[in-house]
Amino acid sequence: MTTTYDILMLPGDGVGPEVLAEAEQTLDAVASRSGFTVNYQRANIGGAAIDAHGLPVRDEDIELARSSAAIMLGAVGGPKWENVEPEIRPEAGLLKLRQALGLFANLRPIKVYDALADASPLKSEFVRGVDLLIVRELTGGIYFGQPSKRWTTEQGRRAVDTLPYGEQEVERIVELAFSLAEGRSKRVTSVDKANVMATSRLWREVATEVGARHPNVALDHALVDSCAMRLISRPKDFDVLVMENMFGDILSDEAAVLAGSLGMLPSASLSASGGASAGAAFGLYEPIHGSAPDIAGQGVANPGGAILSLALLLRTSLGLEAEAAMVEGAVDIVLTDGARTRDIAGGGAHVSTAEFGDLVRQALGAV
Ligand code: IPM
Ligand code: MG
Repeated sequence: MTTTYDILMLPGDGVGPEVLAEAEQTLDAVASRSGFTVNYQRANIGGAAIDAHGLPVRDEDIELARSSAAIMLGAVGGPKWENVEPEIRPEAGLLKLRQALGLFANLRPIKVYDALADASPLKSEFVRGVDLLIVRELTGGIYFGQPSKRWTTEQGRRAVDTLPYGEQEVERIVELAFSLAEGRSKRVTSVDKANVMATSRLWREVATEVGARHPNVALDHALVDSCAMRLISRPKDFDVLVMENMFGDILSDEAAVLAGSLGMLPSASLSASGGASAGAAFGLYEPIHGSAPDIAGQGVANPGGAILSLALLLRTSLGLEAEAAMVEGAVDIVLTDGARTRDIAGGGAHVSTAEFGDLVRQALGAV
């Protein structure tokens, strides 16, 4: 009997639907080669959901997500929804989904493809060979802490956000970073602001305790400000970096510069519960780029991040390592052969979103 996987597609806004269509066709191509089938479910998220249902994510769609083997998401947000109430902004839909599904671990691998080392604005000798993994805590910290509000006093407008962390929350994400480092070059950098913040001192203490349980992995602690500097001045110093939610949001966009374009970068957001096979994790997979409303609908978005997110889905939620490696290998071939979407073409000739996707599917056979 052929295996069927239930995959929920959440295209979202802007270029989200365009890049997700390429990931979907690539999944179809992999499925027919490997002899499994995919049962697609579809739902709206972000601005598209606000337009369709008046909410950035519906509870029934969260339930649909829960019953799937994995989720693929395009992107959310855009100027059209900038003035809606904060609670129903497109981004609030994504945050609600992350929290409702317990997607506490956000993995953002930053790998510089040899063929793209010149696409980075940084000198290629600094970025060539960079291969690091940002492990970002995704369901805690200042994104979710209460109170978070704004009000008016006699002295004027005020606002507050709150940054809480509990030791179990820190422990599980740092533990995951260590277990991922075991399969890489056995180095973990824990990022914090322990010279100023109480949550960061707790973070550092717990990270040190977890580190003591992994004597074969080297742990160092970095303050977030100097880490931001070293990330672009000496990126090869790093392997696995683990940090709280907002630091991870900021440093992962910064690290993306190393790879030449946000467009090429995938991400996985994982929960503690299982995926489709033993050892697999349930997760949501999305490119790290945003909805890029300025280029939406033009067929120029880079589908690389979405297609590489599919590779992470195959590996991490479906347990299909060979298929994941095939997709990654195909992207490598296409880049090495010189195909470039506009964002990485440096002003030179470029292929469209769909052409890039087609080239990846053609290359699957050559991996
Ligand atoms: C990201 C994005 C989101 C975040 C937004 C869209 C809520 O920037 O995934 O990095 O801040 O987490
Ligand atoms: Mg971000």
